[in-house]
Formats: sequence, structure tokens, C-alpha cells
Amino acid sequence: MENHCITVENLQVNYHQQVALESVSVELPAGKITGIIGPNGSGKTTFLKAVLGIVTPATGIVRFFGEELDKVRQQVAYVPQRESVDWDFPISVYDVVSMGRLNPKRWWQRVAAEDLRIIQDALAQVSLTELQHRQIGQLSGGQQQRVFLARALAQQASLIVMDEPFVGVDVASQDSILKVLQTLRDEGKSIVIVHHDLSTVANYFDYVVLLNNKLVAAGDTKVMLKPETLAKAYGHSLLFQSTSES
Ligand SMILES: Nc1ncnc2c1ncn2[C@@H]1O[C@H](COP(=O)(O)OP(=O)(O)O)[C@@H](O)[C@H]1O
Ligand SMILES: [Mg+2]
Repeated sequence: MENHCITVENLQVNYHQQVALESVSVELPAGKITGIIGPNGSGKTTFLKAVLGIVTPATGIVRFFGEELDKVRQQVAYVPQRESVDWDFPISVYDVVSMGRLNPKRWWQRVAAEDLRIIQDALAQVSLTELQHRQIGQLSGGQQQRVFLARALAQQASLIVMDEPFVGVDVASQDSILKVLQTLRDEGKSIVIVHHDLSTVANYFDYVVLLNNKLVAAGDTKVMLKPETLAKAYGHSLLFQSTSES
């Protein structure tokens, strides 16, 4: 069994001659919760989008469980950054979650009874059963984030990739999202999360990748949280801050 959920070799992304991501090579472990960490503008979203083929990299080879994305697309669920979603779109919670059951190869088929059960299970897991008929714009930030997590659950993917799922989200929703992710991890699924808040890294992640427009470091959370490593990614102001607080 392949023990990396994502393998990236020499991934480079330029936006109009400007380098957003410089030659990143990294392997993300399968069966763990990995955090992609870095300050704003450090290329975290770009990294996810390039890995998933949403933006075209200048160079790079990406493998999912050792395969090309096209071969395993159904196994990969992507939850975009909340601010990139059009929340005015007239679609209900249920509709969004049911998209997790759409198979692009048989999109014309109606949802089967088995699918209905999976959709309701996913809604229940994130405590949104009661709100399933509500328009997605009529939800709090935390509820909106849970809708997209439920869609990923309904897809029954082996790998769930989320971009800043804890931003603009109430503490109760943060806890519930984290619990769901930990349960999935304990079932053997792989989770990759883009995150910028260093103070919660130790609680959330098993493995950490530090980005600052290039790879700064990657490793188990305990090793990675050393001040020297963090200072390299975030600059010395943060190192100063964290030592003055302790
Ligand atoms: N579509 C785009 N066109 C041009 N520049 C972009 C685009 N998307 C991101 N950038 C730039 O690339 C850099 C990395 O952005 P991004 O990946 O969104 O960082 P992060 O998610 O870490 O905040 C930033 O300087 C940003 O301004
Ligand atoms: Mg981002």
C-alpha cells in the first residue's frame, strides 16, 4: 500500500512571470492529518490548486497514492476556501451535499436509495440534518464550512483537501470539524489542510509542511514546532513573540 497520499516533485507556479511557488518537492503521509502552514500570500492556496490541477503549474509532477489524479479523482475531495464560494447561489444544503454522490461518468442518473442514505449520514455527522433545506447563504460561517465537509464525506473519498476550514468559523464548529477529521483519520483516510494560525498547529496536525513561497521544512508536528524552524517560515517577529509569551 502506497504510504503517501500526495507526492510532489519540483512544483513551480508563476502568475504573470511572478513566482508564487518555487520548485517544491514534498511527500505528504497517508492516514494522517497534514497541515500546510505559512503566512498570508505564502502560496498555500496556490499549492493546493496546482496539486489538484486547478491552476497549471510551470513545472512539476504530482501523484496521488502513486497515481495520476485522473485515475483517482473520485478518491479526492476538495473543499475550497470559503471566500471563493458564491454563497448567493440558490442552492440548498442538501443539494450541495448530494453533489458528493455525483459520478461524472453517470451524471444523468438519478440518485439511488443507497446514495440517499449516504447523504443523510453525512448531514448527520456534521449536525446539519435540521438545516438541510436551507439556502447555503442563510448559514453561519461554521455551518457553511460543515456543508462542504459533508459533501466530502458523501463522496467517501480517501483523501480530503481543505483550504482554511477554520477561518471565520465559530469555536463549536471548529471543534466539530476537527472531531470529524480525526474520526476519518482513525478510519485510515488522509486529510490535508491549509492553515495559517500557528497557535493551533500542535492540536490539529500530525504532520506539518511549512511554506513560504518555497518549501521551508516538512516533518512530524513535534519536530516542526521548534522556534528555529518557525522563524524561518514566519520571520523573527514571531519567534520574538512566542518566546516573550512563554
Ligand atoms: N490568480 C492569481 N493571479 C496572480 N497572482 C496571484 C493569483 N493567486 C494568487 N496570487 C499571488 O500569489 C501569491 C500566493 O497566493 P496564495 O496562494 O493565495 O497564498 P496563501 O493561500 O498562502 O495566502 C500571492 O502573492 C498572491 O497575491
Ligand atoms: Mg489561501
